[in-house]
Amino acid sequence: MTLKWWQTAVFYQIYPRSFADGNGDGIGDFMGMTAKLDTLKELGVDALWLSPHFPSPMWDCGYDISDYTSVAPEYGTLEDFKTFLEAAHRRGLRVILDLALNHTSDEHAWFLESKSSRDNPKADWYVWMDPLPPPSLRDASPVSNGRNVGGREGVPNNWQSCFDGPAWTYAPERRQYYYHYFMKQQPDLNWQNPAVKQAMWDAARFWLDLGVDGFRLDAIGTIYEHPDMPDHPVPLTLAEMRLASDRAKTDAERKQVGDYWREMFQYQYGRPGVHDLMKELRSILDEYDGDRMLVGEDDDVNYMGDGKDELHMVFNFPLMRADRLTPAHIRRNQAERLAALAKVSPQAWPCNTLGNHDSPRIHNRYGDGEHDRELARLSLATVLALKGTPFLYNGEEIGMTDFYLTDISQFKDTLATWYYREAVEKLGVDPAEALHNAARQTRDKCRTPMQWQDAPNGGFCPAGVAPWLPVNPDFAKGVNVADQRVDPASLWTFYQEMLAARKSNPALLEGDYLPLQENSETCLAFLRRADSQTCLVVLNFSDQPDLLDFSNLPYREMQLLFTSGRPPRSMALDAIQVDRFGVLIAEVA
Ligand code: GLC
Repeated sequence: MTLKWWQTAVFYQIYPRSFADGNGDGIGDFMGMTAKLDTLKELGVDALWLSPHFPSPMWDCGYDISDYTSVAPEYGTLEDFKTFLEAAHRRGLRVILDLALNHTSDEHAWFLESKSSRDNPKADWYVWMDPLPPPSLRDASPVSNGRNVGGREGVPNNWQSCFDGPAWTYAPERRQYYYHYFMKQQPDLNWQNPAVKQAMWDAARFWLDLGVDGFRLDAIGTIYEHPDMPDHPVPLTLAEMRLASDRAKTDAERKQVGDYWREMFQYQYGRPGVHDLMKELRSILDEYDGDRMLVGEDDDVNYMGDGKDELHMVFNFPLMRADRLTPAHIRRNQAERLAALAKVSPQAWPCNTLGNHDSPRIHNRYGDGEHDRELARLSLATVLALKGTPFLYNGEEIGMTDFYLTDISQFKDTLATWYYREAVEKLGVDPAEALHNAARQTRDKCRTPMQWQDAPNGGFCPAGVAPWLPVNPDFAKGVNVADQRVDPASLWTFYQEMLAARKSNPALLEGDYLPLQENSETCLAFLRRADSQTCLVVLNFSDQPDLLDFSNLPYREMQLLFTSGRPPRSMALDAIQVDRFGVLIAEVA
């Protein structure tokens, strides 16, 4: 089987602001990233996804882009970017960039022009609406519910932004509202306008011409809105819903909040039209050599089109939507996911991940408070052993944990500072409770600087310099790259060995997935079968060793390829011993 580079690669997401500070100003940059390429190569990843590196006022940590064809000055210059790209390519590391299509920054020149008047050349580049007439002039509609959300009369409807309250912000220059699915500093582009498409495709070409290997496409589901803009039926504001989510105790309460989320955004998300856009963008990529690729921040496999005409991959987010990764959850997920992909095309390729810059760290999310380290290893082993392309998030390789901020002034994520203020000022929540909730909801907790060594600021930036977000002090307790690189028992070494095992065994790259022992509550066992090789993978999620019988399989021999602990005493297929929290990969014949 000949697979493309993005099918055999392990992707590593770099969060540029927090990765490595080359110039000592407390903010990560290209000089820093370039200097760490050898370390990444040594770890064994193959491709890098950079979260946005463009100029940005940083209301949403770079996802509010104010210039699509340039580099944020605090990260360096375009020359620094080119140096980085060239250095990555020289080491055989591919690089994909993060493209936010739905919105720009409100400081982007396009928006400044668009909002300046109702008849400028870019007047129609964003989603503008007239204020609704005062209630006395409106028909006596029973659904005026929420029209006053945000306290301003006349918002076009009761839609909320998913980050900061009403989805409409008034621009006095035009005496109109603009729409934003995300923060008010992130106005939605009007993708019905061909000029918008042209401008964005030009930006994509700019980076493709420079040689980048593809894009991760941000929030594609939010690109179009329901043309009639009907009110949503949820009787809560965004802040009330977040609070309800924080206070939900029972499954029924959690389900209610989940239903509310879906109902609230139903007209703002997943609308038709995106497929045509994805086709256009795909055809641009296909003009280039080198198998440039697209991965969408969405779990809907329909964005892969017929398997050849839209995105190359979408993320298997349902895998990470669980508080505990249990064998049963993983099996169910794989069964559903692989079946859905098979409907797209026999070649449709899976893409697995367990974390990114928007989600809790793996330790916190899938830990049980007692065996977090062991479970983090198993989580990693899971994404590396399942069929498909794994995406890893920087810091997971050393077991970085969520870092809960304790002072609201330290927060950088506007989602959380907004929520804190609303909760305290409008919903009367006790500040201590609001801070507790904000510290857990904020995405700052998983974005703290990389911990490179046991040194001031974790070696991220020099002593005496204040990093942009506090460094988690557990760098002094072994959670750092330098200590773990030389420790054969470390998580880093485990990653490195597992990545190497993956790379050198064709079954782990191209083999299919066949679940075994499907009733086991503690062990996840499956085969990866390729023409040239078959591997048996067993992951024991319990704190007890297990003895498994695979004698019903049509194999007689077994050769150990990888194990997390001591080699098993017996390699007989009818009695395979797997350590507590153990990982075992063997070739069978
Ligand atoms: C995506 C990004 C997230 C960002 C949002 C708006 O979900 O991953 O970080 O805030 O889009 O661009």
